[in-house]
Amino acid sequence: MNDFQEKIGIANPDWLMSAREKLCLIGLLNTMKPDRVIELGYHRGGATFWLSKFAKKVITVDVNEFVANAEKEYPNVEAWNYPTLEAIDRIKEENLFFDLAIIDADHSRKAVSADVKGLLEHADIILMHDSFNPDCRKGMIDTLESQKSHAYYLDFMPSVSKGDGLWGGLALAWKSKTAGPSIEFYQEKSPYPPTALQNSLRLIPKMNSIKDSIFIFLGSFISKSKILGGRLRGR
Ligand SMILES: C[S@@+](CC[C@H](N)C(=O)[O-])C[C@H]1O[C@@H](n2cnc3c(N)ncnc32)[C@H](O)[C@@H]1O
Repeated sequence: MNDFQEKIGIANPDWLMSAREKLCLIGLLNTMKPDRVIELGYHRGGATFWLSKFAKKVITVDVNEFVANAEKEYPNVEAWNYPTLEAIDRIKEENLFFDLAIIDADHSRKAVSADVKGLLEHADIILMHDSFNPDCRKGMIDTLESQKSHAYYLDFMPSVSKGDGLWGGLALAWKSKTAGPSIEFYQEKSPYPPTALQNSLRLIPKMNSIKDSIFIFLGSFISKSKILGGRLRGR
């Protein structure tokens, strides 16, 4: 797939999305041509490059110091180098509103839930990365199922089980008169449960973790035996 990504100009190891997620974001940006975008989770700016191309104004937020580069590279991008919760406080204080928000920062359930909650009042369309990660998905649901402003679709862009676990996927929420869970097709079934089941049955990551535990146990057993042997010889 990398040569395909190179062929069409989206290959970038610093952009932590799959080819289909990248094309989904580029397509959405090209269709929306948003005035104002907020990005929670800059990393190394893989997505920010495209945001800056299509949006009039972008704010990107990250706790890592690389985010400061965004302002130097793109005249229409403002970098906020602090946690998303502080960014959300500022958005509330200044009463900012965005056509598009992208959430891809702290991936814990609590943090994802708080980021979504914080942006609901301030964004028309919200794109949430890693909707196929079990914790992130729970965090999204925690907030989305109890709000009344946005419709949402957790399987907007499904993901697959990978060697490093179940990551990726894009969920979408949009301001709507019919807030709540949405589907596209009559009687459609979510691809998430079978993918999560498939991921839970993966043997290699489990075997690696058992192997690591055995090595840790053996290492500590051998070092304790050496200490004990030394003490006994010393007596
Ligand atoms: C998965 S990366 C973002 C990837 C990026 N959206 C892309 O497409 O390449 C997550 C980023 O969120 C940042 N991050 C994690 N927790 C954060 C927090 N509480 N506030 C702000 N940034 C955070 C990390 O420093 C990291 O750069």
